[in-house]
Amino acid sequence: MVKTIEWRDGKVVMIDQRVLPHEESYVVNETPEQVAESIKTMVIRGAPAIGIAAAYGLAQAALQGPSEPLAAKKRFADVCEFMAATRPTAVNLFWAIERMRKLFDDKLLDSVAAAREALLAEAKKIHEDDIASCRAMGKFGAELVPASANILTHCNAGALATGGYGTALGVIRAAQEAGKKVHVLADETRPWLQGARLTTYELAADGIDTTLICDNMAGALMAQGKIDLVVVGADRIAANGDVANKIGTYTVAVLAKENGIPFYVAAPLSTIDRSLPDGTHIAIEQRSPEEVTRVFGKVPIAPDGLPAANPAFDVTPARYITAIITEKGVAKPPSVDSVAGLFG
Ligand code: MRU
Repeated sequence: MVKTIEWRDGKVVMIDQRVLPHEESYVVNETPEQVAESIKTMVIRGAPAIGIAAAYGLAQAALQGPSEPLAAKKRFADVCEFMAATRPTAVNLFWAIERMRKLFDDKLLDSVAAAREALLAEAKKIHEDDIASCRAMGKFGAELVPASANILTHCNAGALATGGYGTALGVIRAAQEAGKKVHVLADETRPWLQGARLTTYELAADGIDTTLICDNMAGALMAQGKIDLVVVGADRIAANGDVANKIGTYTVAVLAKENGIPFYVAAPLSTIDRSLPDGTHIAIEQRSPEEVTRVFGKVPIAPDGLPAANPAFDVTPARYITAIITEKGVAKPPSVDSVAGLFG
């Protein structure tokens, strides 16, 4: 499995997801400013991976920051602020920042050295815990996959989008490891092509049978009985089980319901934002029109200057979701009660 992100001697090393699959190169982030830029420009993307990157960036902030407590506190607050301004939808970013901020404030009461040591350990723990969560949700999810299944996925919710193993792709990996015969249909995921470029890349590397389809083919294939279930990831889940995920997820969910196909969402508890009662409150990132008017931001496919809409995420209401799979179990069907139950 590819290594998405790694802490190496004070540097945060990321595989550059902007140039995969044809180029495997790495970005070495030496400062929190560089980490924030890498999140913003999508060197690294995917909700859990963004949270891990931010955590490592905040560890750098503590380690590289001033030794005097008040100055260290000011620098840390500034880094938290610009880190939080990178991308608005994936709640894992804010979850990780809050976790690191609380620990920093707590440890700073002892000393700057104590805060530095604790923050690096915490970032590493967030990373390790995420991989463990992916494996746990994989086990729960694999039980929902029939012995032989054609599985549709949208965007990339794999090792590249997490600390490793993946959420939706973790379910698929676990099903295959359990001896099930899986065939994945990967939506290309216009406009950024996470499905075509990243999902196919990592599934092929693992020897998982995969067919790439254009986003607008899913409905026809469902109607022809060629898709048995759908599994996707999430960027933010509201308290009632509404799910924000990559643009196009809502369309797939409605089509799945119309065709009587189970639609699963796999995500760690760190993606659930219980402060929001429902999905209407989730901030949706609006990205550059050029991602739509040019293929992969380069080759023009529309008249110059033509306006284009580019919401990066949509919200799928809980009523379209068969179950939400987490590391703590499955909310089936998703509701205020079943989601709250995941938190024990
Ligand atoms: O814009 P991206 O590529 O960061 O969007 C990613 C997604 O929408 C993923 O499906 C989601 O973050 C889940 S990743 C495990």
